Amino acid sequence: MIRCGVPVLFPHCSIQLTSRRARYNETMKKLTLLGGLTPQEFLRDTWHKKPLLIRQAIPQFAPILSRQALVDLAAREDVESRLVSYFNQQWQMQSGPLTKLPAFAKKAWTLLVQGVNLHEDAADALLRQFRFLPDARLDDLMISYATDGGGVGPHVDSYDVFLLQAQGERRWRIGAQTDLRIVDNVPLKILRDFKAEEEFVLQPGDMLYLPPHYAHEGVAVGECMTYSIGFRAPSHQELGEAFLQFMGDSIDLPGRYADPDLTVTSHPAEISKAMLAKVTEQLNKVQFSADDISIFLGEYLSEPKASVTFDDPVRDLSPAKFRQLAAKHGVKLSRKTQLLYRGKHVFVNGESFAVGRADLLSLALLADSRELNASQVAAVSEDVMESLYIWYQDAWIMLKSTA
Ligand code: SIN
Ligand code: CO
Repeated sequence: MIRCGVPVLFPHCSIQLTSRRARYNETMKKLTLLGGLTPQEFLRDTWHKKPLLIRQAIPQFAPILSRQALVDLAAREDVESRLVSYFNQQWQMQSGPLTKLPAFAKKAWTLLVQGVNLHEDAADALLRQFRFLPDARLDDLMISYATDGGGVGPHVDSYDVFLLQAQGERRWRIGAQTDLRIVDNVPLKILRDFKAEEEFVLQPGDMLYLPPHYAHEGVAVGECMTYSIGFRAPSHQELGEAFLQFMGDSIDLPGRYADPDLTVTSHPAEISKAMLAKVTEQLNKVQFSADDISIFLGEYLSEPKASVTFDDPVRDLSPAKFRQLAAKHGVKLSRKTQLLYRGKHVFVNGESFAVGRADLLSLALLADSRELNASQVAAVSEDVMESLYIWYQDAWIMLKSTA
């Protein structure tokens, strides 16, 4: 991480230190969102360990999207959505874009819309209330709308999830079972033998936190909307496969198999010991360093989901005009941009690059705050300004006042 001991060399240090200290102080504050726990207490006692029901986590919570706005999102090509129904004792699932939904008067169906934070400022702002948790773990804000009796059946998720009741009521039944066998031949992963241990009815503003693999079932009591704030915990297998793919792009093994020493064989189908030894020698040259792992992880975690598209910039600006406006208004990250850093590496939307210490401070400040004000932009180096301009053209960042 960044160490800033030399303010003369690194003019952004004091800003960085202030914001880091401010952020630390935030973790010591009791939060209504966490039922009066500080983020530190929540992480120590609850996170990834046990469920927590928080009554009125967000008092007087008002939904950020109407039913119609959610339905409109579900019809879009660039939005992931699903329709789940349980009609006539049968589970059915349809993936979006969804242009036709069952009647709102019909019971037992659910519309799920992923990544609402990528499309709505208010949803993004809600998600950022959970920034006492690292961006590297953040997945998205999913909104579900259900008619009376609607739900997706008893199941487990591989995510840490905060289930915030946004509108109407939902009955949650939860249990710590280890029997995670699922029902065969249904389009959803439904637990075969769900045994609920606790039951709560959530009202608007109430929130239920569940660690990964904690069995749960939510059923709408009348029409309702639930917001799921999800934090991904990739499986080791998924990480391993993605890492090998990453290494596949970066290994360099010059030369080609050669056997001038080949001798006659009476077992032509057998792979010879000599061949195996030669190949083993070459493959043992595939090594990876701590830097390879850093770069892999940062690119992997900052990669946008396949459905994410970036629009054109709000205004087509020359580099000089961009520099002038950015230094006047400041810049902020697009809702869709994931900017992370580790050591000297900076990762943005699946790409990585190494920077010097001063540039790292500017970019780390942008990553942590998701914005730079006018004076912070005015202080960045030529290289950082160049990157900001490219990111502006790609709509990865925006000018603050016009965003
Ligand atoms: C829902 O909102 O209907 C499902 C959310 C979940 O169980 O994770
Ligand atoms: Co779930």
